Amino acid sequence: MSQQFDVVVIGGGPGGYVAAIRAAQLGFNTACIDEWKNALGGPAPGGTCTNVGCIPSKALLQSSEHFEHAGHSFADHGIGLKDLSIDVAKMLGRKDAVVKQNNEGILYLFKKNKVTFFHGRGAFLKTGDAGYEIQVTGTAAEVISGKHIILATGSTPRSLPGADFDEDKILSNDGALRIGSVPKRLGVIGSGVIGLEMGSVWRRLGSDVTVLEGLPTFLGAVDQQIAKEAHKAFTKQGLKIELGVKIDKVTSGKSAVTVSYANAKGEATKLEVDKLIVSIGRVPNTIGLNPEAVGLKLDERGAIAVDNHCCTNLPNVWAVGDVVRGPMLAHKAEEEGVAVAERIAGQHPHVNFNTVPWVIYTAPEIAWVGQTEQQLKAEGREYKAGTFPFLANGRARAMGDTTGMVKMLADAKTDEILGVHIVGPFASELIAEAVVAMEFKASAEDIARICHAHPSLSESTKEAALAVDKRTLNF
Ligand code: FAD
Ligand code: NAI
Repeated sequence: MSQQFDVVVIGGGPGGYVAAIRAAQLGFNTACIDEWKNALGGPAPGGTCTNVGCIPSKALLQSSEHFEHAGHSFADHGIGLKDLSIDVAKMLGRKDAVVKQNNEGILYLFKKNKVTFFHGRGAFLKTGDAGYEIQVTGTAAEVISGKHIILATGSTPRSLPGADFDEDKILSNDGALRIGSVPKRLGVIGSGVIGLEMGSVWRRLGSDVTVLEGLPTFLGAVDQQIAKEAHKAFTKQGLKIELGVKIDKVTSGKSAVTVSYANAKGEATKLEVDKLIVSIGRVPNTIGLNPEAVGLKLDERGAIAVDNHCCTNLPNVWAVGDVVRGPMLAHKAEEEGVAVAERIAGQHPHVNFNTVPWVIYTAPEIAWVGQTEQQLKAEGREYKAGTFPFLANGRARAMGDTTGMVKMLADAKTDEILGVHIVGPFASELIAEAVVAMEFKASAEDIARICHAHPSLSESTKEAALAVDKRTLNF
């Protein structure tokens, strides 16, 4: 007799592990299966986010930012340093320790919430009397069954045709997070989120970084006023960004990688680098899940097809996170995971895609929620815009970090906030106020009338709201 569960979650990333915890909180007998292995072959739940994504990238961004500050801005504060050096092995060791803490934290949360954890791969076997039978293949092989199945199998990096990842010279996000010494010349294909974050890490540590982007526009999905400001800052820092290129081929030699491409003018060009990061997007992952066994429908992109409620074409089979449509973000995966567990319990949760914030953790940070100015123009919607530069913010001046601005867009008639876009210090934290405001359908005037602590960066959000009505106080 196989072990039977009310809910079986396949995948222990942010979508899956959070869904399992919420299901258990709601009283369901819940299992979570995850196959990720740590260096010793042990369980490492947390998925891409914890192991090779959000967490390790932010650890390296933090380390490299300290290094950059020590080398460039400490002197302005009167702090002198001699013989500044970077111990890459130690930096990577710290990053690995942060990852391990998070893996262990999830295992602890499973225990605390009485979620049964299986370390191995989960695959559909068949539809059975007690729901769906799932084959678990790990250290031991066993079959379990679940009345409800939540699929949260995530995504994998997309490779360039003819340039497979070897994680030595041609790197995905995985290899990019464990380069053993600072490469002299680093190439990055794709100036999206990973390209800019990882490019920034290695540039700060001393690499000569060239980013090759296929599209003619820099960060096309970002409000273009914000993107322009960010582009200016990155270029000033020494990141070389070439837009509108067409990659022809990538050749990996003994000690270098050569990228042959046509530049924006169509001229044949070659870039030789020691390491190449390919960050051109990610693809939904259903490898090993055996969807055919039960007739689970995938869409043309290979994502699991779901409706607005994360229901698949099969009764009581749900899917969340990177493996379904929508932005590939950890917090979006988590929200969907919680919502599905609550739907199984008969509740009526709602995930509002319009208020999912985006953050790019470069310096300056870029964060936004809601619509961009170019989207509003394309829709023909009448809007008012207000901006406030950090240059005029007392806290930013005291910090010595005055790049960027807060920009608020509001409906011309109702004053409802339609989008907030930030480039500058701690944009990742500042955006939370905008998300709350938009969830509560606040107007720009609501934010303008709220008391914000002084001196704080958040006063810039208030001032941007005042600017919507053309009445900033400090600019
Ligand atoms: P995943 O995290 O990919 O987890 C899926 C899990 O399922 C994995 O552990 C996998 O091993 C397991 N699995 C797959 N198939 C099976 C199977 N058949 N059986 C058992 N287990 C299986 N997002 C942010 O919001 N903020 C960030 O700062 C951020 N930074 C990122 C940085 C990088 C370098 C990368 C690559 C991504 C980043 N992301 C970030 C995106 C974020 O990591 C993903 O959106 C998020 O991890 C998706 O969660 P998920 O649960 O859907 O899938
Ligand atoms: P991305 O979609 O952010 O960027 C990919 C870039 O590569 C785009 O600008 C695209 O135009 C370009 N591109 C695609 N094909 C190309 C080609 N052949 N030649 C040149 N350029 C090409 O994807 P990325 O950076 O790989 O990240 C994947 C996803 O992971 C992100 O979209 C995001 O969802 C998530 N992520 C989130 C982070 C965060 O929230 N801070 C950090 C890192 C990743």
